Amino acid sequence: MLPAIEWRDGAVVMIDQRKLPSSEVWVTCTTAREVARAITSMVIRGAPAIGVAAAMGIALGARRSAATGTRQLAAEFQKACDLMAGTRPTAVNLFWAIERMKRTFAAAALAGASAGEIRAALEREALAIHDEDVEHCREIGRVGASFVPDGARILTHCNAGALATAGYGSALGVIRAAVEAGKRVSVVADETRPFLQGARLTAWELVRDGIDTTIITDSMAAAMMQQRQVDLVIVGADRIAANGDFANKIGTYGLAVLARAHGIPFYSAAPVSTIDLGTPDGSGIPIEERPAREVTHVGPVRLTPAGAAIRNPAFDITPHALVAAIFTERGACEPPFEQSLRRAVAGR
Ligand code: MRU
Repeated sequence: MLPAIEWRDGAVVMIDQRKLPSSEVWVTCTTAREVARAITSMVIRGAPAIGVAAAMGIALGARRSAATGTRQLAAEFQKACDLMAGTRPTAVNLFWAIERMKRTFAAAALAGASAGEIRAALEREALAIHDEDVEHCREIGRVGASFVPDGARILTHCNAGALATAGYGSALGVIRAAVEAGKRVSVVADETRPFLQGARLTAWELVRDGIDTTIITDSMAAAMMQQRQVDLVIVGADRIAANGDFANKIGTYGLAVLARAHGIPFYSAAPVSTIDLGTPDGSGIPIEERPAREVTHVGPVRLTPAGAAIRNPAFDITPHALVAAIFTERGACEPPFEQSLRRAVAGR
């Protein structure tokens, strides 16, 4: 399984997802600022993956700091946390990972650890966040695969695969687990304008795995459902509110409405770190507006006339009423989501 991100010899190494599938280029970050820039510019993307990147970036910041005392290290650590928190607003995994790093720092400092011991503890925590995410994705896959019938034609949007996580994937984890369980499945990958995560990244991952994949433009999904060529929809999530409303890549809401109109089950797959019980419903989830250039251009080529206003919200909110189940590493959460999500977070 190709890792999207690695901690290698005290540096953070990531595959540049802007360049896939045409070239496999690895980017090495040696400072927290470089990691933050990699998140903002989409070298790395996907909710769990940016949580891992933020944690590694913070550990890297502490490692590179010249601070000899814990007080000075604490000030620089806080700056690295603020830097990561300012990268992308929607995926809660980022803020969850920063909080874990803060708790690790506080616990080590409280125990009287030296600056060097605190650095080591931060590094261990970042690696633990990475490793746990791979395990969680495998479990999400196992949970979700039992909802996938043999022969299913599955539509997915964006990329919720190994590239978007520490490995294996959430929505693509379900597809991989179904295949590993011997089920014959085929995948319809939405192109996912404007960044083309579906056409470039999901298709690349699935083709590498030998899974039957068809790429469609986003506007083809309705006709395919009408023609009964889709059996179920599985997507990832960037933030799941307490009532089950969730943010995911722009276009997800439209698919959920279409799935309901055609009687097709619509699922999300995400680790528990994506659940934000502090946000009561989808209206409280901040939606990132990304640069207009992602819409106006493909690579260096301009598609649109100058003078037209451009909108580029990167995510939308799918209301919980359209969702059949949310697969997590602690089981399938089904309606009423207020209860099932709270139970998943509590580990019951
Ligand atoms: O803007 P992106 O590419 O970071 O958006 C990613 C998504 O919307 C994914 O579906 C989501 O993060 C889940 S990834 C397991």
